[in-house]
Amino acid sequence: AAFDLVVRNARVITAADEMHCDIGVKDGRIMQMGAGLAGGTREIDAQGRAVTPGGVDAHCHLEEITSGPVRMADDFDTGTRAAACGGTTTVIPFAAQQKGHSLRAAVEEYRQRAAGRAHVDYAFHMIVTDPTPEVLERELPALIAEGFTSFKIYMTYDALKLDDGQILDVLSVARAHGAMAMVHAENAECIAWLTRKLEAAGRTAPRFHAVARPMLVEREATHRAISLAELVDVPILIVHVSGREAVEQIRWARSKGLKIFAETCPQYLFLTSEDLGLDDSYEGAKCVCSPPPRDSANQEVIWDGLNDGLFSVFSSDHAPFRWDGEQGKRPQGQEVAFGRIPNGIPGIETRMPLLWSQGVLAGRMTPQRFVELTSTGPAKAYGLHPRKGCIAIGADADLVIWQEGDFTLTNGMLHHNVDYTPYEGMQFKAWPAMTIARGQVLWDGRHFTPAPGHGQLLACGEPSLLAERARFTHRYRPQCTADDGC
Ligand code: URP
Ligand code: ZN
Ligand code: ZN
Ligand code: ZN
Repeated sequence: AAFDLVVRNARVITAADEMHCDIGVKDGRIMQMGAGLAGGTREIDAQGRAVTPGGVDAHCHLEEITSGPVRMADDFDTGTRAAACGGTTTVIPFAAQQKGHSLRAAVEEYRQRAAGRAHVDYAFHMIVTDPTPEVLERELPALIAEGFTSFKIYMTYDALKLDDGQILDVLSVARAHGAMAMVHAENAECIAWLTRKLEAAGRTAPRFHAVARPMLVEREATHRAISLAELVDVPILIVHVSGREAVEQIRWARSKGLKIFAETCPQYLFLTSEDLGLDDSYEGAKCVCSPPPRDSANQEVIWDGLNDGLFSVFSSDHAPFRWDGEQGKRPQGQEVAFGRIPNGIPGIETRMPLLWSQGVLAGRMTPQRFVELTSTGPAKAYGLHPRKGCIAIGADADLVIWQEGDFTLTNGMLHHNVDYTPYEGMQFKAWPAMTIARGQVLWDGRHFTPAPGHGQLLACGEPSLLAERARFTHRYRPQCTADDGC
């Protein structure tokens, strides 16, 4: 046969276009597209259904070591299995440096965790928590050169946060070496102060998590991150933007020509602070994440930002903690004060079907924009485009065939290792009928075919989003170092 696989009669959707054609796959790559292609060893009839590039989930936490005693529920097996069943064929989890340890050691450790276990391709963002001279001058530049071209920095969480001077140091390295810096923007001191006040007043129920992290702590940190990036003259990407006040800061920065990119997540479209509880019940712990979900007016602001190009990336921020059992939201069955509830919610499998259902099929988003946000944008942001994030000749054959049909979500339908979903009972209008990763069918709409080790570590190039500089007043100069006086 001419091809290993031919997907026939596809309504191919890319970030720019729509075309009806067959897709011929050979050796895991798209080799030809057109009408009436020659035969394949395997033939799949898409029956005119929408076919999009496989999702790139550029923000998910798998088997990550947290500061507390609680363990994350998903490893590279269950996490990438759930990803595939939800239409995601590339994940970018984190390799987190621990303070006092080397960054290189963290990358090696996480590489070993994933090796031979992942079902879909993966890359890593580094998390820089301890920017020692060794890290800044040697480890980080070397790791960027080896294909780890993005890292996350935190402005909150004691175990993770950097002060402003440290942030300037690491942003300078991103500028000099062409890496994308992702910023978790929340003001740590304000959160700590509010948490102390609330706890002293006995207000410890999950719903007070949102009271301790009001929009202004995100707004202030977002503005500060923008200012630090402006000082160094380097693009940054603000992650998990939750609502209007942070969006306003980013719009203001972009109107000045600053190179500020942004990501948001399903929880800011589909949850509100009411999901943390209207009363003091503990059930709301299931939706504790940071920043917290806001309200319906803020959801509208996020929809607008997704549609008008403010956001480049739509990620899950999958941070899987179980509800019951030793390791989770109720550790040893204990209801703990909100400040000790592990932050994060599962969503790696629901990310794409939620946005296809409530965005594309509800008439709130074009299918092209859906592809841009869930696949092409993240691939460009993190140096994986055009191998990932597009349906084009030579690209990896990562494809999702979409099937329409109404159903109500229950956690039992999902493949993660978490015993609840924040989206239990929600109406869906679509789900992947098939997920194909480098030419291999992992999910056929009913069954997952395990392929441990099929997922390979991807070397990331320089993020092409960094080069989208024409719209900016200042040219991005990757050869510069912060102290060369330019
Ligand atoms: O609450 C969240 N989002 N936990 C995951 C870690 C992070 O900051 O993204
Ligand atoms: Zn974060
Ligand atoms: Zn996260
Ligand atoms: Zn220079």
